[in-house]
Amino acid sequence: MYPQLKRGEVVANREIAPGIFLLGVRGKFAASPGQFYMLRAWELDPPLFRPMSVFALEEEAISFLYEVRGRGTGILSRLSPGEELLLLGPLGRGWDPPARPLALVAGGTGIAPIHFAAQIYGGDAFLGFRGKPYLVESFADWCRAVYVASETGEGGTKGLVTEIFRPEGYRTCFACGPEGMLRELYRLCSEAGVPLFVSVEERMACGLGACLGCAILTSRGPRRVCADGPVFPAEELWGDG
Ligand SMILES: Cc1cc2nc3c(=O)[nH]c(=O)nc-3n(C[C@H](O)[C@H](O)[C@H](O)COP(=O)(O)OP(=O)(O)OC[C@H]3O[C@@H](n4cnc5c(N)ncnc54)[C@H](O)[C@@H]3O)c2cc1C
Ligand code: FES
Repeated sequence: MYPQLKRGEVVANREIAPGIFLLGVRGKFAASPGQFYMLRAWELDPPLFRPMSVFALEEEAISFLYEVRGRGTGILSRLSPGEELLLLGPLGRGWDPPARPLALVAGGTGIAPIHFAAQIYGGDAFLGFRGKPYLVESFADWCRAVYVASETGEGGTKGLVTEIFRPEGYRTCFACGPEGMLRELYRLCSEAGVPLFVSVEERMACGLGACLGCAILTSRGPRRVCADGPVFPAEELWGDG
């Protein structure tokens, strides 16, 4: 599916946890799990679109889960139903259909692409939050089991998601979250011999593979996160060879 630039109408933009918004946009869109769109709801400033993973896809709508970090996401957070934004996508390479059983592991807003993977592939979800968990019930619609950890102990086991997840018994693991969490998961999965595929973030300019602004070094040489990723086998990022 080639990327297209489209206008979409906001149907909802709700703050579901402090600084975390769920944005629903009306229209026909396409995407596979792990792909993202470049969003823009402003004229000239900031100059660049902002990349956001697809959270969920329906026949006539697409949604995104985002944390307000700076100017772009600040503008997105002030959009009201009926207002329009530009969407460029679908972009990037996501998760291929997995060998099952599948484990889905997410931390913070890393739950966005993991939720879409759950919607398409099912599996067992392991979700980690800093404070009060959100959207757990939405995972229950798609997953066989949902396990929750939070650093405060609210709504789940007190601690980190990597403390409640054990890879043994799974044939594939998909993950998205902070780099420290992903590296610890890689350690756990490689000890258990379970292939791990992670979605990573990098600052992006074009999102289309043209500017090389998002290049990272992998065991197979430099790769563009926007076009060769954002999903990579973890061993290409952090393996020994
Ligand atoms: C493929 C991809 C998918 C993403 N999916 C999501 C998602 O589903 N939900 C979500 O909340 N965020 C997601 N991000 C991160 C999101 O794009 C950034 O938070 C956003 O671009 C920040 O824009 P801003 O103008 O608000 O902040 P800026 O003013 O540009 O920056 C504010 C802060 O955010 C940091 N930042 C900026 N861009 C990124 C980035 N690409 N990755 C990490 N930190 C960044 C900056 O270092 C700075 O500290 C994704 C990023 C990528 C590359
Ligand atoms: S953002 Fe331009 S190549 Fe990736």
